[in-house]
Amino acid sequence: MEMSPPTAEWWRQAVVYQIYPRSFADSDGDGVGDLGGIISRVTYLTSLGIDAVWLSPFYPSALTDGGYDVDDYRDVDPQLGTLTDFDEMTAGLHGCGIKVIIDIVPNHTSNRHAWFREALAAPKGSPARDRYIFRDGRGPDGAQPPSDWPSMFGGPAWTRVQDGQWYLHLFAAEQPDLNWANREVRDDFLATLRFWSDRGVDGFRVDVAHGLAKDLTEPFEPLPAEPNPGDQPVPHGAHPLWDRDEVHDIYAEWRQVFNQYDPPRAGVAEAWVHPSRRGRYASPAGLGQAFNFDLLEANWRCGEYLRVITDDLADTQQHGASTTWVLSNHDVVRHATRYALPAQDDLSSIGAASAWLLSGGVSPEPDCGLGTRRARAATLLMLALPGSAYLYQGEELGLHEVADIPGDRREDPVFWRSGGAEKGRDGCRVPLPWTADGPSFGFGAGAAHLPQPAWFGPLSVQAQEHDSASTLALYRQALSWRRKLRAAENLEWMPGTNGQVLHFSRSGGWQCVTNFGSRAVPLPRGTVVLASSPLLEGLLPADTTAWIIPPAPDRVAQHLTASALQ
Ligand code: NOJ
Repeated sequence: MEMSPPTAEWWRQAVVYQIYPRSFADSDGDGVGDLGGIISRVTYLTSLGIDAVWLSPFYPSALTDGGYDVDDYRDVDPQLGTLTDFDEMTAGLHGCGIKVIIDIVPNHTSNRHAWFREALAAPKGSPARDRYIFRDGRGPDGAQPPSDWPSMFGGPAWTRVQDGQWYLHLFAAEQPDLNWANREVRDDFLATLRFWSDRGVDGFRVDVAHGLAKDLTEPFEPLPAEPNPGDQPVPHGAHPLWDRDEVHDIYAEWRQVFNQYDPPRAGVAEAWVHPSRRGRYASPAGLGQAFNFDLLEANWRCGEYLRVITDDLADTQQHGASTTWVLSNHDVVRHATRYALPAQDDLSSIGAASAWLLSGGVSPEPDCGLGTRRARAATLLMLALPGSAYLYQGEELGLHEVADIPGDRREDPVFWRSGGAEKGRDGCRVPLPWTADGPSFGFGAGAAHLPQPAWFGPLSVQAQEHDSASTLALYRQALSWRRKLRAAENLEWMPGTNGQVLHFSRSGGWQCVTNFGSRAVPLPRGTVVLASSPLLEGLLPADTTAWIIPPAPDRVAQHLTASALQ
């Protein structure tokens, strides 16, 4: 058994619940979730047993990209509430022992940000334009974009303005990229970090953390070939746009601000980089943690899970941060649905799900029961691993992806910029069902901003609340056991691990065993305290995870059981 980590490192093994505010709970019936909705659900969040919430952007925004197009970094969107509501929410969560992490979006502002408006009104070469990346076009009249770089959301990464110059946007045209070589930009973000830290925010999730430093030496070269969605990025460090070494100078400055607070503010990088390059983002001199998306990309296969866990723990040991496990978030097809699809040898689970979405969610036909069963097993496995775990709202209800949102109701720029060829990410952002029926299933008093399917009712919080076999109950029990068992940041593979079973133990003798195979297997000795599906005549069935504590009279176990039952 391990003592609690020092307060300064509360994040090391924290369970963080991601709230996508516009789809969590709507307190005023306008169809859009808000801070009042979060305040009204603090009791629910507490009942889950999480350590922290991470809020996706709640700032003023035209919502071209779900709030990742920020108009003002130091305010709340009026549709979501006010700064006073934010303070009330933070106090309510803190009062229940839940920390607050917010999303910070430094790669780009929105095109409605005061700086961008100023830049458009200012002449070429002005200081106002230098906060962004404006360039002249190619060709005799400058009518060709400065380079043929594509935007991540489809279409060109440059847009022309009235006086003929072009500005860079690696995402939507409404998300102009900032120039991080500009000292004013850097200082302003330091002020924003202080603004929220002073309000009691405990940490920051840094959007597109690997994109801030760019080599904009001209002539611009064509970009190296990008991997397919969901493929492992190649290690680079020399790419003109992504993961350049200079980006860490920025986070060294952020760290100095973080460390001026007690406890120091935490940071977690959203950096889609090769695992070998993740460590620098997660270093104590940098942001402190970086998302590890390897589990999220893995197929439901024993070998893939074994490789990912082994590699990520080894990698983490090298740079001293704890690792971060993620199975779902607001950008990918929910894991219950990914695991309902057949694994494909040449694709990650995200890649296969993207292909499935393109078919309108019909081909191949998902086996939803199997997906739920595997998702429950995967979650229980993830929650037994050392490091922190990030949960995405609705996964505790076993929600699946909503694949059949009509085109005219879709919101994601990925859908609109691709002319509907890509379906985008709305299917995992559909507002949560709180009640089994009623308008918007208890999300709010009016219709929700994205349509909810009829099958949300039986998966609602209300429908699961008193069902001890529900996915909600499983999450609550798992988080409660995890908290009681409070193991050191270690993992020991047990001899039971083979081509279809993963079996490991944590300090104090807590064991986790997962059967990826198709036949039931014997369980190790001990008391099964939790299983993701019912046991089969004392055996561990297919696609199931169990947590086991050692048999009495093992002294460690006695100690464990005693403290766990307190
Ligand atoms: C990553 C965010 O998770 C995603 O939702 C957003 O579209 C892009 N960054 C651009 O900000």
